Amino acid sequence: MMNSGGVIHRFPKDFWWGTATSATQIEGAADVGGKGPNIWDYWFELESHRFFNQVGPGNASRFYENYEEDIERMKELGHNSFRFSLSWSRLFPEGQGEVNEQGVDFYNRVIDKLIACGIQPFVNLYHFDMPLALQQRGGWESREGVEAYRMYAQECFARFGDRVKYWFTHNEPIVPVEGGYLYDFHYPNLMDFQKAVQVAFHSILASAQAIQAYHEGGYGGKVGIILNLSPSYPRSQHPADLRAARWADLFFNRSFLDPSVKGEFPEELVNLLAETNHLPKVEEGDLETIRMNTVDLLGVNYYQPRRVKAKEHLPHPEAPFMPDRFFDPYEMPGRRMNPYRGWEIYEKGIYDLLLDLKENYGNIECYISENGMGVEDEERFRTEEGIQDDYRIDFIREHLRWIHRAMEKGAHVKGYHLWTFMDNWSWTNAYKNRYGLVAVDLENNCKRTVKKSGLWFKEVIAQNGF
Ligand code: BG6
Repeated sequence: MMNSGGVIHRFPKDFWWGTATSATQIEGAADVGGKGPNIWDYWFELESHRFFNQVGPGNASRFYENYEEDIERMKELGHNSFRFSLSWSRLFPEGQGEVNEQGVDFYNRVIDKLIACGIQPFVNLYHFDMPLALQQRGGWESREGVEAYRMYAQECFARFGDRVKYWFTHNEPIVPVEGGYLYDFHYPNLMDFQKAVQVAFHSILASAQAIQAYHEGGYGGKVGIILNLSPSYPRSQHPADLRAARWADLFFNRSFLDPSVKGEFPEELVNLLAETNHLPKVEEGDLETIRMNTVDLLGVNYYQPRRVKAKEHLPHPEAPFMPDRFFDPYEMPGRRMNPYRGWEIYEKGIYDLLLDLKENYGNIECYISENGMGVEDEERFRTEEGIQDDYRIDFIREHLRWIHRAMEKGAHVKGYHLWTFMDNWSWTNAYKNRYGLVAVDLENNCKRTVKKSGLWFKEVIAQNGF
């Protein structure tokens, strides 16, 4: 165990320590309190077999009922901040139009409870959960989606902006593009590069419009975006591998990072879209809105690196156009894996990312908004003292070590949020892999028990380091 004399990696005073989650993954109460269905409720109803053990989001981890007790436990475990998302379809059951006051009331209670417990609420507006009614009108494919989102964002700022000082427009906006429009792991399960580009463009435009509205409203806090960034490592220094890595970086990192932080899209990417006839529909003034409304703060989610190599084979000329036309994934021999999730564990990736932000993105103020490890069947590690998840402790510690090193080199990092506080529902993986500091027993009315990592993390927070 650590004592203050033994702290080698000390973090700055006021470092944000906490965890992150999202509405659909913890709230449950999917059709309670006036909430309208979102695309997850709907897709589960249509194709429950595509969800692990056929578990849907309907009851999730029951935060809707247990939020008070959960927030008290966060306090006990030392959190000074907590990131969650608002469910758009809880606040606007139809995605637009009339506000559901019961939803407003719920989030008011959550925010007030957090503040009463000394925990800063970090609020994200969109975490993969498009209201179904809007999706049926095109969702992010349509201009109407952008307009509905702007009104939703404005309403949230007006209702909660007096107490919430850290806002985020989206979580990982590239994921609904990949999942819903390229690789078939989110509803609407399309494979259509042109629509994918339009959805991406509209998400960025919506983010910029929300940022503009927030700044114009003079709420006195900060507004940012949360991006999943994975450094793209080439297999070798061969020019073809380097080119492959550059394209992966352009598609999956810079497509959102550049417009969010610099206000403009990478020229190479725009040129490619122009040459291949995939440019999105853009209206007059859109690019100016994006240029003028960049983020105050960047949330960085990091789980795994991306390793790529030059393509082994020429792409089929008539196959659907996909980003992977420009690279193949590279399985580096001897890479360390989290076998349950199938993700490589490479802690130094977080350092490389943070230095990239320092060197190429004006050292924008940022924080680690997600990082974590999902493990299957954690019950096998349970003793009388709870789940002994030493692997999670190692995972967090080693990432924190690299974050600390990046900060020593001058990276502008304000905090670390683990994914996640308590085990939650993971999209199509449902409850397969558990990520929490706190275990949730689905068989036993979602009973919570703190894991060893929860106590360890508490001590790190108390000592502001390790
Ligand atoms: C992030 C998301 O990509 O990774 C979370 O923001 C998600 O919503 C987390 O739960 C872990 O991924 P997964 O798919 O294992 O839940």
